[in-house]
Formats: sequence, C-alpha cells, structure tokens
Amino acid sequence: MSTPLLELKNVTAGYGQTPVLFNVDMTINEGDMVCLLGRNGVGKTTLLRSIIGLNKLSQGSLVFNNKNITKFPTFKRARYGIAYIPQGREIIPYLSVLDNLKLGFTASGSKKTKRIPLEIFEFFPMLKEHLNRQGGLLSGGQQQQLAIARGLMCNPKVMLLDEPTEGIQPSIVQEIEDTLKRINQEKGITVIVVEQKIDFARQLAQRFFIMDKGAIMARGNTSALSDDLVNQYLTV
Ligand SMILES: Nc1ncnc2c1ncn2[C@@H]1O[C@H](COP(=O)(O)OP(=O)(O)OP(=O)(O)O)[C@@H](O)[C@H]1O
Ligand SMILES: [Mg+2]
Repeated sequence: MSTPLLELKNVTAGYGQTPVLFNVDMTINEGDMVCLLGRNGVGKTTLLRSIIGLNKLSQGSLVFNNKNITKFPTFKRARYGIAYIPQGREIIPYLSVLDNLKLGFTASGSKKTKRIPLEIFEFFPMLKEHLNRQGGLLSGGQQQQLAIARGLMCNPKVMLLDEPTEGIQPSIVQEIEDTLKRINQEKGITVIVVEQKIDFARQLAQRFFIMDKGAIMARGNTSALSDDLVNQYLTV
C-alpha cells in the first residue's frame, strides 16, 4: 500500500507577477525515491522552492502528511519534516563543519544544544575528520555532503535536493548516490532529487517526473524512461 506524503494540486507559482509553474499536479508517496528532470530554466528549482515555501502559490494547494501547508511559512514546513538542500549547496563558508551541522538543529526548532547524532558520521565519515575545518575549505563534493548531512539533522520525512551532483567529481557523485540510497532505504526518508544527469537519475530513483516550460510532461517508473523522452525533453 502506498500512502501519499506530499501532494501538489494544480500548483501555479512564480516570481512577482510572472508565473513559472503552471497547474502542476504531483503525488509523492511515503518512502519514494523520485527524480525531477528537465532542461535549464524549465522551473525545477522553482518547484522545490514552492514546496518549502520560498515561492508563494498564486493558485493550487500543497498537502503534506495530511496537513494543508499551502499557507505555512518556510520554518514551519521545515519543522514538519521537509528538508531543503538548495542548488549550489549554500553552506556557511566561514563556519566550521561542526557549526554548519548544528544549524540543522535550528531548522528543526530545537533550542537545546545537542550532540550531533552518531548516525550522521556513519552516513558521512568524512565529516568526522573535518569537524573543525571551515566549511569553505572543503571540496565541492564534501560541501555537498555537509549540506545533505545538515538536512538530515532535523530528522526530516522528505528531503528535497536540487542538483546535488552539479560540478562534483565522479568518485564523490558515486558516494552521494550510495548515501542517498541508504538514507531512503534504512531511514525510510522520502527523497526528491532534481537532476540533469540521466544516468544518475536512472540508477538512483524508482520514479521520474519530467518538466518542460513549468509543467509536468511525463512521469512514470525510471525503467520506462525511454530514449524518446530523453531526446524530446532532456538532451540539449
Ligand atoms: N529570482 C527570480 N526572479 C525572477 N525570475 C526567476 C527567478 N529565478 C528564476 N527565475 C525564472 O524562472 C524560470 C525557471 O527557473 P528555475 O530556476 O526554476 O529553473 P531550473 O529548471 O531550476 O533551471 P536550472 O536547470 O538552470 O537550475 C526561468 O525562466 C528563470 O529565469
Ligand atoms: Mg535549478
């Protein structure tokens, strides 16, 4: 039985008066591992930003875990269990790895200073070796891992990742793929990944959505992600 975790119903959203997303309908089930594909500028980031509340909907609604969250501010959505790992990672470069991780507690609404859960270092052993280093001194791939770890700190039900492999060396791309699979399978966290690399998406996800010009044009199991679809909507 699949239980819906996140539902976008007829979502229209954009920047100011300019709509970018048009009547988007999507249902993501609990435990799903989903990739959202599409060429540059079609609205993938805007879709994730709308889910976390950084873009207001001009039409439609969002239901998360049986709650209508359409009007909730971003911090409240984070507390209810939506973690957002933005494109370009956005860790704080002058803070240590440890302090960057602790920001994850803030997102969860916890005021107490707690210890970093050991499982964070099980998923990301590299972080343990670099705890006192400035975040900005890590490699791009390590910064991405730090950003994912920080998202994991608030015990999310769903993680939204925006192009986590962009500009990252292949060996770390593989590590990130393996870790996301573990987070999904071992912790049961639902994962939505925006991706441009088709092979990565095929290996990682069970289901796909393809966007073009702010609308969902195709969806299905990644096993059915045909070359025709790739040529029509994804290759440049
Ligand atoms: N802050 C903004 N203000 C106004 N328009 C914006 C803003 N950010 C993005 N847009 C526009 O919204 C549209 C969708 O952009 P978005 O960033 O969601 O695309 P994307 O699919 O994530 O692209 P990419 O693959 O390059 O990351 C584009 O036409 C873009 O120019
Ligand atoms: Mg984007």
